[in-house]
Amino acid sequence: MTHVTQVDGPTDSVTARVPAKVNLQLSVGPLREDGYHDLVTVFHAVSLFDEVTVTRADRTSVLVTGEGGPAVPLGPANLAVRAAVALARATGRRGRGAGGVKIEIRKRIPVAAGLAGGSADAAATLVACNDLWQVGLSQAELCEIGADLGSDVPFAVVGGIAVGRGRGDVLTPALAAGNYHWALAFGQAGLSTAEVYATCDRLRARATAAGNRAPAGEPTLSTPLMAALRAGDPAQVGPLLSNDLQPAALSMQPELRRALAEGRDYGALGAIVSGSGPTCAFLAKGAAHARDIAVALTSSGACRAATRASGPVPGASVVKAGA
Ligand code: C5P
Repeated sequence: MTHVTQVDGPTDSVTARVPAKVNLQLSVGPLREDGYHDLVTVFHAVSLFDEVTVTRADRTSVLVTGEGGPAVPLGPANLAVRAAVALARATGRRGRGAGGVKIEIRKRIPVAAGLAGGSADAAATLVACNDLWQVGLSQAELCEIGADLGSDVPFAVVGGIAVGRGRGDVLTPALAAGNYHWALAFGQAGLSTAEVYATCDRLRARATAAGNRAPAGEPTLSTPLMAALRAGDPAQVGPLLSNDLQPAALSMQPELRRALAEGRDYGALGAIVSGSGPTCAFLAKGAAHARDIAVALTSSGACRAATRASGPVPGASVVKAGA
């Protein structure tokens, strides 16, 4: 449930919150000439949120606090800064102060974790600035601007459960029922998405050269997974979770195998690396089971920390506007 506090007249600051994502399916095609890979992925937004507040200012700046905050680049490389600049440009806000915002990011989504935290912050900034400046862009228009910032940004704007194609930025809503409860286990160190994709290419090339696998073909959507999601049955969904990047993430952080195995031992319906990792996502039978898995993984030392989350939840949305 989203509560929006509206005030009369122009506001000085707007806060948006935005969820993390887990990929229920992540099928990766061959490397393209532009350095990206065609994907078929099923995105699922879960209740682990970052919050972004934008406040009118002469110059654009960013401040990051919370989980992994010090690891986030400040200045023009920051995805949230790039989002504010891109929206100001797209809506013709020029001149001193017109497109300036102070961006404050309160992070709960870990950095470089395979949960699209950076993309989430960009999406929240787009939604918050759209509201602050009252420029009235549609969700589709925000997604178009977001796609240039990162492949996962459009999904962070939209949320819910959606199928991503192209780089992951071309979305169609998925017919899905039910609620899904997760334990999320965070790795000791982050993984670079680009390096995980490159490792995936290398592992595949090696396997093909050894005659162990055909070259990667065009990815296709899993019909059994979509049927299980329509049925809204976590017990059916669990064994159908899949991630082509998992072997690469496991080769880069072999200790993740232990976390996955322990989660299965605790009765998880499915256990996968989330996106490019290293976060491991465990589909649970319900909220209490998700908490039990998270507690067990934390206390066994199989991960740095663990939490529970559920989905689907909506994408980036305004939670507060203030004078
Ligand atoms: O789009 P984004 O900036 O999040 O992607 C980060 C990196 O992940 C890209 O530079 C690319 O190396 C890799 N990537 C990919 N294919 C995709 C999405 C991302 O190879 N579909």
